[in-house]
Amino acid sequence: MAELIVAFDLPSGREALDLAARLPGLRWVKIGPILHVREGPALVREFTARGLRVFLDLKWHDIPSVVAGAVEAARAQGVAMATVHALGGPAVLAAAAQAAGEVALVGVTVLTSHEAGDFERVVGRGVPDLGFEAERLGRLAVAAGLRGVVASGHELTLLRETLGPDPWIVVPGVRAPGDAADDQVRTIAAPDAVGRGATHLVVGRPITRAADPRGVYQRLMESL
Ligand code: C5P
Repeated sequence: MAELIVAFDLPSGREALDLAARLPGLRWVKIGPILHVREGPALVREFTARGLRVFLDLKWHDIPSVVAGAVEAARAQGVAMATVHALGGPAVLAAAAQAAGEVALVGVTVLTSHEAGDFERVVGRGVPDLGFEAERLGRLAVAAGLRGVVASGHELTLLRETLGPDPWIVVPGVRAPGDAADDQVRTIAAPDAVGRGATHLVVGRPITRAADPRGVYQRLMESL
């Protein structure tokens, strides 16, 4: 069964803790830059003290020693999963993997908010197929010893085929038909993501901005 991770991109730790308490059976919480810059490690500790697994999604992209240092700090805080950008390259990924210990490190391939044109402007060449880019970056991450990758649902089938059955594939940009896409471009419905081999689904605004977050969360859990 795939795991559901709720992305708490909320303005305060208090709101995140209150919402988490309203979601029955919640196992994973994702803390990104918004909450981490505001609340720091105290919120990580508060969530772990409540028995929740923290996915620290800061998407590190820096020189190897700095990324490895950040991974060590996350490990000391009891973080269960964290992200690095696969675009950092093999030396960064290897240093991160070496520092990871029990932290499941996953490599971000192509952001789910990117279309081919956006990615072309970043890498300065034509990108006829984003799937190829995700596959290339996914291979780099797994070859360096990371636990898995973060990718959009559109690249899932290809990545599962390429990487084999073991690596985690964490999929953000999950939307039910009729949901607002927000700033996501390459979205997928939860049952489709599971069917194509996702191990973890990341869902933020469809839950956090819902009139009835608990109802949306429970329906999602049932669909898994
Ligand atoms: O609100 P929404 O469901 O779109 O949230 C998706 C979450 O997944 C956000 O917290 C975002 O940081 C994260 N994410 C993403 N695309 C990636 C990696 C992470 O949207 N490639």
